Formats: sequence, C-alpha cells, structure tokens
Amino acid sequence: MRFHGKTVLVTGAGSTRGIGRAIAMAFAAEGAQVACFDLKASGCRATVKAITKAGGTAYPIGGDVSCSSDVKRALKETSRHFGALDILVNNAAIVSFKPLIEVTENEWDRMTSVNLKGYFLFCKESAHHMISHGIQGCIVNVSTIGATLAAEKKVHYCASKAGINLLTRGLALELGPKGIRVNSVSPGAIDTNMIHDAAIQKLFDKIPPSQRTPLGKIGTGSDVASVVLFLSSPEAAFVTGADILVDGGLTAGQRFPRPDKVQHKPS
Ligand SMILES: NC(=O)c1ccc[n+]([C@@H]2O[C@H](COP(=O)([O-])OP(=O)(O)OC[C@H]3O[C@@H](n4cnc5c(N)ncnc54)[C@H](O)[C@@H]3O)[C@@H](O)[C@H]2O)c1
Repeated sequence: MRFHGKTVLVTGAGSTRGIGRAIAMAFAAEGAQVACFDLKASGCRATVKAITKAGGTAYPIGGDVSCSSDVKRALKETSRHFGALDILVNNAAIVSFKPLIEVTENEWDRMTSVNLKGYFLFCKESAHHMISHGIQGCIVNVSTIGATLAAEKKVHYCASKAGINLLTRGLALELGPKGIRVNSVSPGAIDTNMIHDAAIQKLFDKIPPSQRTPLGKIGTGSDVASVVLFLSSPEAAFVTGADILVDGGLTAGQRFPRPDKVQHKPS
C-alpha cells in the first residue's frame, strides 16, 4: 500500500484496455484515491466501476485535456472529493497514421493540442495546485519511444511527443526546488486499443510475436503502470527529469536474424 492516502489524477483513464486504466487501477490497488479523467465520460465511469469492484476508491471526471476550463475543473473536483493532489499522470493522447505531407493543418493542431498543450495545461495547473497546498508531489508524463526515434507516417505524433520529453526535463528544473519531481516513461509497443485501431497493427501482425522485441513479446498496460508507480513512489525520491523506456528492448539497438535462421544462398 505504497500510496495509501495519496490523491492521484490520471488522464486518459477511460480506455477499456488502455495504459491509463492500468495505471489508475494499479494506484488504487496500492491505496491511492484516484481521479480518472477522460474525454469519454462513460469510459471513466467504467474504470471507476472496475476500481470500486476491486475494493479501491476512484472518481470519474469527463473532459478534454486541451481545454483549460476542463483542466481547472478537474483539479477542483479532485481536491473536493479527495483532498489536495499528490500525483499527476499525464497519459491521454491521440495518434494517427499518414505521411506528413498529407496531414492537414486541423489534424496537426488537434494532435499538438491534445498531446502537447494538454500535458502543458495539466502540468501547469497541477504544479500551481501542489505549490499552493504545500504538496511535495510528483508528475509522470507518458511519452513514447517515438519521441526520440522518428517513425514514418507518425511524424506529427512523434513531434508532439518529443515536446513532452523537453517539457518534462524543463519542469524538473523549475519544480525541483519546490520539492516536486517530474519524470516521463516511454512505452514501446503496448497491447491497447491505440495500436489495435491503428494501421501499424497490420504491419505488426506480419512479425511473429517472438521477434517483436528482444523479450519476445509486446508490453501490457501493467508493464507501464509498474514503472509509473515506481517513479511516483518514495523509492524514486532522487529521480527527476528522467525518462524510463518501457519497450522490451525494442530500441536498444540494431537486431539481426539469429544465425541459425539465416538462409545462405549458394553462390
Ligand atoms: N499503446 C502503445 O503502444 C503506446 C506506445 C507508446 C506510447 N503510448 C502512449 O500511452 C498513452 C496511452 O495510450 P493507450 O495506448 O492506452 O491509448 P488509448 O487510445 O487506449 O487511450 C487513450 C485515452 O486517452 C483519451 N483521450 C484522447 N484524447 C483525449 C482528450 N482530448 N482529453 C481527454 N482524454 C482523451 C481517450 O479517450 C482514451 O481513453 C498515450 O500517451 C500514448 O501516446 C502508447
């Protein structure tokens, strides 16, 4: 029960098998009271129901991360229900797959509004809130391996997420003196609706599971959640401005076919 009595807010917590739901459930299982924020109010309610059924405490808040009045309301509702916020997890994001030259101005604006401005608004309001309540809290931003490793047909997504990594490190500098730690996690391929909805799934299906990562599998929401909880815990008391990869070794380096699998053609 590492988070007994702590108040946590998780954005994007309303996706059935999403990373946000896994994070919210993991915090609740360790004693936290969790505000679940999502554009899909019904998804939030389903997450809260699952947490309550498992014996935890949670509250649903519908809203859009890119709308400052929704973000302010989320902070107010969270503290009214559970007391001052201790931990913010910025997780809500969108993705789409198309070459950059086909991305419309509206699509670019929506991608950066949700994935970057949304993180900024929640970081800013939560930091104000923590400072004014004298809370030495922490913020964890869910980024992606795509923030540092460019991917074709996801340039707009990668660019928005790259901003999150610098937002994280810059805020770690500014908020460290206030006792607030700011870190990020960078998942690789995680089995959620995001990759199942996406065109990348078609590519992924062509790769045998054992070859998808050096660990021979793709990740789960709880693989990411356990790292988010570590970064939010006292065990990470001296960790700020860090980014932890949760990718099963996908980006560790170049991989070659196993020697026994290489077909040598006669010369
Ligand atoms: N799944 C992966 O392979 C993977 C890999 C790397 C990084 N990530 C990151 O993990 C995080 C969670 O992704 P996921 O795979 O669980 O995706 P998901 O699509 O299952 O969940 C995202 C959630 O965010 C919510 N959301 C979207 N726009 C919103 C908005 N404007 N306001 C409030 N909520 C909004 C959605 O309703 C949804 O519930 C994202 O930040 C994503 O970039 C995922």
